[in-house]
Amino acid sequence: MTTWRVKRNIMKRYDITAKIYDERYFEEQNRKYQRALKDVNIEGLVVLDMGCGSGLFFSYPAKQAEIVVGIDVSHELLLRAKKQNKQFKNVFLVQADADHLPFRDCCFGAGFAFTVLQNIPNPAIAMAELRRTVKTNNKIVVTGLKKAFAINKFIDILEQTTMQIISFIDEENLNCYIAVLTA
Ligand SMILES: C[S@@+](CC[C@H](N)C(=O)[O-])C[C@H]1O[C@@H](n2cnc3c(N)ncnc32)[C@H](O)[C@@H]1O
Repeated sequence: MTTWRVKRNIMKRYDITAKIYDERYFEEQNRKYQRALKDVNIEGLVVLDMGCGSGLFFSYPAKQAEIVVGIDVSHELLLRAKKQNKQFKNVFLVQADADHLPFRDCCFGAGFAFTVLQNIPNPAIAMAELRRTVKTNNKIVVTGLKKAFAINKFIDILEQTTMQIISFIDEENLNCYIAVLTA
């Protein structure tokens, strides 16, 4: 299957399941956000949430960061993100592919990708895009779904980026590994 066909199928899948996403995943995603934010200070930054889905993460950065930009391929999830976060005037949404971020180099103060890489045919491309768009030496948080990536495979993906790994969290109550890197 071509890369685009794979992505289109993923996009359709998330569009179809958008309605049940929050109910099904809120608690486990929330645990990841809280754990990740212990290691990253986003106060006053312009933050990218790559593969933001329904915007479950936004309530944290919207209160601390200057601006939050969420991108996702799923139109339905973005509509939910918009509806559910309309109280936050500093949140902006863009429908885009993580492999082709429509932003200039070094425009974000921090980048996050929670439970997204398992959907990306070649995670190295999306990781390179995150690195390109986040300011040099600033932090990037990516999580790897344990059922999709053996720990060594996920660490390989991180090492291929040649970014420095600041912390690697593997806790039993999380269904993802959480890595904090510097761009
Ligand atoms: C498991 S959900 C995680 C959503 C969100 N990060 C969260 O914490 O709830 C994976 C998300 O990745 C998005 N996604 C998948 N492939 C993508 C791509 N190529 N570019 C951007 N987003 C993508 C999906 O639409 C979906 O919203």
